[in-house]
Amino acid sequence: MVDNYLTYGQSKIGKKVFSLVGLPIPPRLKRATKSCDKLVDNIYLESHDSTSIVSHLLDEDDLVGATKEASHFGGLVFDATGIETIAETQSLYQFFHSHIKKLENCGKIVIIGVNPKRCEHSQQASVQRGLVGFTKALAKEVGRKGITANLVYTNHELDKTISSSLRFLLSYRSAYVNGQVITLTASNNQATQVTNWHKPLAGKVALVTGASRGIGASIAQVLARDGAKVIGLDIPQVKTELLRAMSAINGEAISVDITDSAAANIISSEIEKLTGSVDIIVHNAGITRDKMLKKMSESQWHQVMNVNVTSVENINSALLKNQRINAGGRIICVSSISGIAGNLGQTNYAMSKASVIGMIDSMAAPLSAKGITINAVAPGFIETKMTGSIPVLTRFFGRRMCALSQGGLPIDVAETIAFLATPQSQGISGNLVRVCGLNIMGA
Ligand SMILES: NC(=O)c1ccc[n+]([C@@H]2O[C@H](COP(=O)([O-])OP(=O)(O)OC[C@H]3O[C@@H](n4cnc5c(N)ncnc54)[C@H](O)[C@@H]3O)[C@@H](O)[C@H]2O)c1
Repeated sequence: MVDNYLTYGQSKIGKKVFSLVGLPIPPRLKRATKSCDKLVDNIYLESHDSTSIVSHLLDEDDLVGATKEASHFGGLVFDATGIETIAETQSLYQFFHSHIKKLENCGKIVIIGVNPKRCEHSQQASVQRGLVGFTKALAKEVGRKGITANLVYTNHELDKTISSSLRFLLSYRSAYVNGQVITLTASNNQATQVTNWHKPLAGKVALVTGASRGIGASIAQVLARDGAKVIGLDIPQVKTELLRAMSAINGEAISVDITDSAAANIISSEIEKLTGSVDIIVHNAGITRDKMLKKMSESQWHQVMNVNVTSVENINSALLKNQRINAGGRIICVSSISGIAGNLGQTNYAMSKASVIGMIDSMAAPLSAKGITINAVAPGFIETKMTGSIPVLTRFFGRRMCALSQGGLPIDVAETIAFLATPQSQGISGNLVRVCGLNIMGA
């Protein structure tokens, strides 16, 4: 669905007209093209104190970037892990106050902090928690230039598991991920070193539900681009579309309705026949049946619960029970900002998408014993058939309600999922990453 406001606002004449009447001009976002390994140029890193983790990052050759004197920066990284008191936030203020003007359009800001729950004293926990407010406010200030700002919480000892977050947040793959916090869990040193960042998923098998169109088709394409063998799944009614989408990426197809009572076992045995097991599962299939609660039928309630939650639970438990998920596996669920903030006419959908958040929260610890991570992404307004059916005015405001003043694209969600799926993201579990351009809903 074309966003006419965006297209016109980005044209030469449109820019003039919009400025004249004081309308916000949505920035033209830069997105990654084909390779997944490219970082923005001219990244400048600084830390609050010399003992902190930035020095470790310097080992990563391609993260070493610009010097302070550069005329412009593509990315700014500030290591705030050493900040323990409010007085010490002077260095944070000074860093961004001095350098933000030199950050290019669509530049990348990453702040590194210590997980407040792992801080040694309350002053430190308080100031480290403060970084969330700082990051989100900064993200809102710079959003009109297409710049994103995100925070990564580490534990005290840094390990290489931070690399995947930095590589993602400092590349154009994270074009629509803004004002987010990625929390690294305690490292269990199971992170596999990725030597080939062009194809980090080489040798992996991924199951993607709802893969025939929209966000699911894009997830399948991006995972295949990154080297994975993809098994796409969708309802039998769209078998032709699914086969077409899978043949384009040399993938396999399973046609089944995930709400079917036999579906989980069918999927398990199809996987056994096709590849034996999988490394990545993306629970993307989802539906809406919007109605104000007083007018909602029981069937509309149950349909949404069955597709969005119950089938996800059933598939996970069948695949875990039958040992179809390899060690080091990745389960990634697709939630929604509606599950965070709630939305008018979506009691069923919001309940289902919030349940998915509860699922990843509760399953992260038990799955970690098997070296499996479980995370969720929460898309905001993404341009798909689903949002194309929203009434015009609601759609207009839906697009504008974020710091980047536009809807995201399916590829923005897909890139975030691919990042969570890499072996190097072993240190990320139980995280909910919003792909919403910092939408004001639930922010
Ligand atoms: N588009 C957005 O703005 C947005 C925002 C937040 C969350 N999401 C979530 O992202 C996911 C993908 O959304 P989309 O916009 O691409 O939707 P879409 O309607 O374009 O695609 C959904 C896919 O899931 C499949 N599917 C539905 N029910 C199924 C079932 N019972 N069995 C197997 N497959 C089934 C559909 O056939 C379709 O291919 C959904 O979970 C949705 O809730 C989307």
